[in-house]
Amino acid sequence: MKLVNGKKIAVKMLELTKERIKNLSFSPSLAVLLVGDDKSSQLYVNLKKKEAEKVGIDFHLYKIDKNVTDEVIIELITFLNSDEEIDGILVQLPLPNHIDRDKIIASIDKNKDVDGFKKENIENFISGDENVIHPVFPKALMTLAENVINNTTKKKAVIIGKSDIFTKALVATGARIGLDIVEVSCTKIEENKHIISNADIIFTACGTPNMLSNNSIKEGVIIIDGGISIVDKKTIGDINVDEVKEKASYLTPVPGGVGPVTVACLLENLVELSIFNSKKDIISPKKSRNNK
Ligand code: GUN
Repeated sequence: MKLVNGKKIAVKMLELTKERIKNLSFSPSLAVLLVGDDKSSQLYVNLKKKEAEKVGIDFHLYKIDKNVTDEVIIELITFLNSDEEIDGILVQLPLPNHIDRDKIIASIDKNKDVDGFKKENIENFISGDENVIHPVFPKALMTLAENVINNTTKKKAVIIGKSDIFTKALVATGARIGLDIVEVSCTKIEENKHIISNADIIFTACGTPNMLSNNSIKEGVIIIDGGISIVDKKTIGDINVDEVKEKASYLTPVPGGVGPVTVACLLENLVELSIFNSKKDIISPKKSRNNK
């Protein structure tokens, strides 16, 4: 079994993004809202900042106290929505429990939703709209799969996920590249073991360590592990390498698999949005942008 080097794939993607930015007449800019003091979120945001700045993106971090109200966050997002200098807005998740996540995400302008988290954007993506931003997490999982498999047509795939809108977006992404893909809920693995054991590609996004073992998978299967859990202060995925290494052909490790590719996909999305938004602005061009 080979471990897929997500960092290496991300580096290549980031190089392309850097080249694209060099050819623009402006620096794309990203606003990131970090609410509270969740340690993992701080780490993820720092990583996004580092990579964004390396490729030439203006990164604006808004650190917000954990006791903030929904209204204050929405007020800031409303301001950023109308700020021509900002191309994308990202609200780092999870948010503190008292905050209404859906309401916050809904307040982001659909053309600045760099994560592709807005319900309206995901629904349009699922219904096949080519002009809507590709949700970052499904995009990262599929990018990794495409990196290890030459021909995805009619390959049997399963996404073991939380049966949420992201699982559905992944099914839509997979279908677009010809996969014969179905979803299985993280809580219904036992009932669906025949689907899992016949899959050529397994995507996981549960946050349940040690989810699969050699006797539940097909010989040669490719496993893309999108799960994250913190156990004994260590970040681990849904899959234990030792449990699947006899049968799987490829596995994306955690950390070092889906994570770095997710950041690369996010920054790629930002460039797409910045180009889209500047074209839309032909009537009132972004006059005050910092030209390079
Ligand atoms: N928290 C963990 N992953 C993500 C992500 O991809 N986007 C946002 N906004 N928050 C996250």
